[in-house]
Parts: sequence; structure tokens; C-alpha cells
Amino acid sequence: MGGDLNSARQLAKEFTCSKRAAAAAVLAIVLAIVLASAALAASTTTLLPATTNTTAPSGSDQAAGSEDLTTRCLTCHSQEYLGTVQDDKGTQNLYIDSAAYHDSAHGLLPCNACHTGFSHDPHKMVNNAEFFRQTANEACRNCHDDQFEMYKQSYHGTLSRGGTAAGEKAPICIDCHGTHAIQKVGTLEYKQSISDVCGKCHGGREATFLDTYHGKAITLGRESAATCVDCHGAHSILPVSNPQSTLSEANILPTCQKCHPDASKGFSTFLVHVKPTSTKAPLIVFAVAVFYLLMIIAVFAFGGIHTLLYIYRGLKDGMYFGKGGGH
Ligand code: HEC
Ligand code: HEC
Ligand code: HEC
Ligand code: HEC
Ligand code: HEC
Ligand code: HEC
Ligand code: HEC
Repeated sequence: MGGDLNSARQLAKEFTCSKRAAAAAVLAIVLAIVLASAALAASTTTLLPATTNTTAPSGSDQAAGSEDLTTRCLTCHSQEYLGTVQDDKGTQNLYIDSAAYHDSAHGLLPCNACHTGFSHDPHKMVNNAEFFRQTANEACRNCHDDQFEMYKQSYHGTLSRGGTAAGEKAPICIDCHGTHAIQKVGTLEYKQSISDVCGKCHGGREATFLDTYHGKAITLGRESAATCVDCHGAHSILPVSNPQSTLSEANILPTCQKCHPDASKGFSTFLVHVKPTSTKAPLIVFAVAVFYLLMIIAVFAFGGIHTLLYIYRGLKDGMYFGKGGGH
């Protein structure tokens, strides 16, 4: 009976092993074919030397589908050996992660939806970071005009056009969203990442947020809890002192009431960025923090003493050093 079962198991194991081997072989053959055809395609069509300047502008691109155009761009740009090029503000990576691009919210867009005018024909570097920053926002604007208009009025948007030192640090669309792997925003995963998006530049605020009720709730996966943008807005962010801010004296209560319908005036004075141990924290928050600290000390002290007594007892009873098994 048991033997039958064992040999059946053995058989099953051998079967899966041979199946695996077969699958690996098929995979290897497919891979070889794909690689061979890719090499062939590259050698015949795409790797035009920069000197053969085919001026006839990409009639073939229009004929070919957008999927095809993207594939051709990626023939070169998904090669890591393209490496980086130096421009006036630093290095630009010419490598695009093809899988991440196809998984992104823009996975179905052809590359030239943003890189207007680019074809697979040889192209030169523009080599100008300033130009890129300006054209980057414009590229997004073509399809996301609403967000662009809001952003333009916001503090970040105003700063970014100001040509000041702070302006260079102010985020443009791609600083918050990324470029070639832009994610959909509706998911819990994205919500959990928002504090890191803002935290890149507002690290101190991120820290004081994660310590609060909202920060903990969102980390624990409560989708309904507030993230930075539920209170501050995403594209219309203004300093709290600005009357138009979602958190100005006039607007803060309605902002909290979106999720706390019963909140009254006093509620919105609750500090939402708070270091419990800071002297600005409300007394109750401070008290809770101290209480927790004392509890932790007490629990560890109790545990420690208990363990020491246990070891002492064990030694006395000869649990550790022989005396024939301790009984
Ligand atoms: C949603 C708009 C958008 C799409 C679609 C897009 N790009 Fe870009 N790409 C940009 C922006 C914006 C920049 C400038 C980034 C910067 O300055 O940091 C850029 C920069 C680049 C660069 C220069 C290196 C770099 O990272 O700065 C390369 C190369 C590039 N893109 C290739 C591609 C290829 C290939 C595709 C298609 C697979 C593609 N892009 C699709 C927006 C886009
Ligand atoms: C034959 C290989 C090849 C193909 C195909 C190709 N590229 Fe490039 N691309 C390059 C190289 C090489 C550079 C760097 C050029 C340089 O250093 O002057 C570059 C640079 C770029 C840049 C940076 C330009 C800048 O001014 O900073 C962008 C953006 C870009 N390519 C987009 C695309 C798009 C979009 C496509 C498809 C329509 C595409 N490329 C197809 C090889 C290629
Ligand atoms: C300061 C960071 C930041 C900047 C700058 C920014 N965004 Fe966003 N964006 C976000 C966040 C965070 C969300 C998610 C909002 C939410 O969950 O309510 C978002 C959401 C979006 C959405 C989804 C629809 C929506 O409105 O919720 C689009 C489209 C978008 N942004 C495009 C853009 C464009 C285009 C720009 C530049 C003009 C831009 N964003 C600038 C942070 C930013
Ligand atoms: C050619 C049009 C086009 C351009 C240009 C474009 N997008 Fe998009 N974008 C789209 C489409 C289409 C979607 C998918 C919308 C959907 O699935 O509901 C999308 C989705 C998004 C999303 C996710 C929205 C959501 O609801 O989850 C963000 C964020 C976003 N784009 C930001 C940008 C940024 C930043 C740029 C500039 C670098 C940009 N887009 C350029 C067409 C475009
Ligand atoms: C690329 C960096 C960067 C990112 C990302 C960023 N910010 Fe900012 N933010 C700034 C800069 C720079 C200022 C101007 C600071 C100043 O005036 O001293 C600013 C100003 C602000 C202000 C006005 C109050 C103040 O401190 O001056 C608020 C509120 C704000 N950001 C919230 C956010 C939120 C929320 C996010 C995420 C959705 C975010 N920021 C993402 C750079 C950034
Ligand atoms: C529950 C609502 C809420 C959430 C969530 C929230 N904030 Fe705030 N934030 C406020 C309020 C209210 C103030 C003004 C009082 C203060 O400074 O504590 C403020 C102040 C700020 C300021 C200074 C603004 C100024 O004009 O001086 C920045 C920057 C900021 N928050 C960034 C963030 C970031 C980044 C996150 C996410 C990590 C975040 N906030 C999450 C409500 C919120
Ligand atoms: C996007 C929704 C949302 C917004 C906006 C929001 N909160 Fe919350 N908040 C929550 C959720 C969800 C909880 C967890 C409630 C629970 O567990 O019952 C919470 C919990 C709290 C708590 C602790 C628990 C309690 O109910 O006493 C406080 C305090 C709080 N929020 C204050 C604020 C303040 C002040 C604002 C406005 C500046 C605000 N919240 C804006 C969703 C939000």
C-alpha cells in the first residue's frame, strides 16, 4: 500500500521532470528563433549608419502601425549597451526598460506620442536639459490638459516657471509620475507610494505623516485613509497660508469633512503632521507616547526577569548540565 503510493510519487516526479526538460528544450528553440530573427531584422532594416541620411521622412512609419514604430524604437533603446550620454545637467540614460514601458499606463502609446517628430531614422541628441524640462510638460499637456491647467496655477507650477533656485527643485509632471513607466493612480499600491513621491523632496513631512493615524492606516492597507493629496491636492497644491489652499482656515474643515462628515471646527485643529514627542503635540498625544514607552520598558523588564529566573531554576534542577536527563 505504502509502496504503491511511493512508486506513484516517484512516477509523478519523473513525469514532471521530463515535462520540465521538454518545456526547457522548446523554450530554448523558440528563444533561438526569436534571437535569430531579431538579429536579421536589426542587420537589414534598423541599424542605419548615421551617414545614410534617408531624408524621405518616414512614410513607412505612417504605413506601419504604432505598435510597429514602438518596436523599432525599442530595437535600439531596449539595449542596455546604448548606455548614457552626457548633457549639460548630467547624464541621460538612453536605455528604456521595454517590459516596464508595456506594463505602464501608456503601454499602448507609440513612442512618438510624446517624442513628436521622432522616427526610427538616425537622430541626434538635443543635449539640453532645460529644453527637455519645458517640452516634457508640453508633451503631457497634449493629452492631459486638465491636469496641466491645474498644475500651472499651483505653487509647484508657478515656481517651476520662475527661473529661481527653488524653481529648479519644484516638480514637473515627470518628477512625480516618472517617464517611461507611468503608473495608473487608482490602485492601493499607488496610494501607498504617494508619501514617497512627495517625500523625495518633503522628507521631513513624510516622516511626520507616517507616524500619524492616517499614515499608519494607509500603510496597513486601509484604502480610505487620507494620503498627502487628499488634504493638499495633487495638481493644485498651494501653501496653507494661501486662502485658496484646500487647507486654508476657510477650507480645511470641508476638506476633513470629505471623509469625516461629522467633523466640527475643533476637529480640524487636530495636528495631522505630528511628532508625538514634540512639545507642540497635544497633551493627550504626548501622554499616549509616554505611556507606550513605559509599557514597552515594563514588558521587557518583566520578560527579562522572568527569563533570568527560569534559567536560574533550570541550572538548579540540572536541566542544562547532565545529572541524567534532569528528572
Ligand atoms: C508619455 C510620454 C512619453 C512616451 C510615450 C515616451 N517618452 Fe521618452 N521621454 C519622455 C520625456 C518627457 C523625456 C525627457 C526625460 C527627462 O528629461 O528626464 C523622455 C526621454 C527619452 C529619452 C532620453 C533619455 C532620457 O531618459 O532622458 C529616450 C532615449 C526616450 N525618451 C525614448 C523613448 C522610447 C524609445 C519610447 C517608446 C518606447 C518613449 N521614449 C516613449 C516622454 C515619453
Ligand atoms: C538605430 C538605433 C536607434 C533607433 C531605431 C532609435 N534610436 Fe533613439 N537614439 C539612438 C542613439 C544612438 C541615440 C543617442 C544619439 C546621440 O548620442 O547623438 C538616441 C537618442 C534618442 C533620444 C534622446 C535625444 C536627445 O536629444 O536627448 C530620444 C528621445 C530617442 N532617441 C527617441 C527615439 C524614438 C522615439 C525612436 C523611435 C521612433 C528611436 N529613438 C529610435 C538610437 C536609436
Ligand atoms: C507634485 C506631484 C505631481 C505633479 C507635479 C503632477 N502630478 Fe499628476 N498626479 C499626482 C498624484 C499624487 C496623482 C494621484 C491623485 C489622486 O490619487 O487623487 C496624480 C494624478 C494624475 C492623473 C490621473 C487623473 C487625476 O487627475 O487624478 C493624471 C492624468 C496626471 N496626474 C497627469 C499629470 C500631468 C500631465 C502633470 C503635469 C502637468 C502632473 N500630473 C503633475 C502627482 C503629481
Ligand atoms: C498621446 C496622448 C498622451 C500623452 C502625450 C500622455 N498621456 Fe498620459 N495617458 C494617456 C492615456 C490614453 C492614458 C490611459 C488612460 C486610461 O487608461 O484611462 C494615460 C494615462 C496616464 C496616467 C494614469 C492616469 C490614471 O487615471 O490612472 C498618468 C498619471 C499619465 N497618463 C501621465 C502622463 C504624463 C506625466 C505625461 C507626459 C510625460 C503623459 N501622461 C502624456 C495619454 C497620453
Ligand atoms: C521634485 C521635488 C518636489 C516634489 C516631488 C514635491 N514637492 Fe512640494 N515643493 C517643492 C519645492 C521646491 C517647494 C517650494 C519650497 C519653498 O518655497 O521653500 C514646494 C512647496 C510645497 C508646498 C507649499 C508649502 C511649502 O512648504 O512651501 C506644499 C504644501 C507642497 N510642496 C506639497 C507637496 C506634495 C503634497 C507633494 C506630493 C504630491 C509634493 N509637494 C511634491 C518640491 C517638491
Ligand atoms: C489629513 C490631512 C493631511 C495629510 C494626509 C497631509 N497633510 Fe500636509 N498639512 C496638513 C495641514 C493641516 C498642514 C498645516 C499645519 C501643519 O503644518 O502641520 C499641512 C502642512 C504641510 C506642509 C507645509 C505647508 C505650508 O504651507 O507651510 C507641507 C510641505 C506638507 N504638509 C506636506 C505633506 C506631505 C508631503 C504629506 C504626505 C506625506 C502630507 N502633507 C499629508 C494636512 C495634511
Ligand atoms: C481621504 C479621506 C480622509 C480625509 C480627507 C481626512 N481623513 Fe482623517 N481619517 C480617515 C480615515 C479612513 C481614518 C480612520 C478612521 C477609522 O479607523 O475609523 C481617519 C482617522 C483620523 C483620525 C483618528 C481617528 C479619529 O476618527 O479620531 C483623526 C484625528 C483624523 N483622521 C483627522 C483628520 C483631519 C484633521 C483631517 C483634515 C485636515 C482629516 N482627518 C482628513 C480618512 C480621512
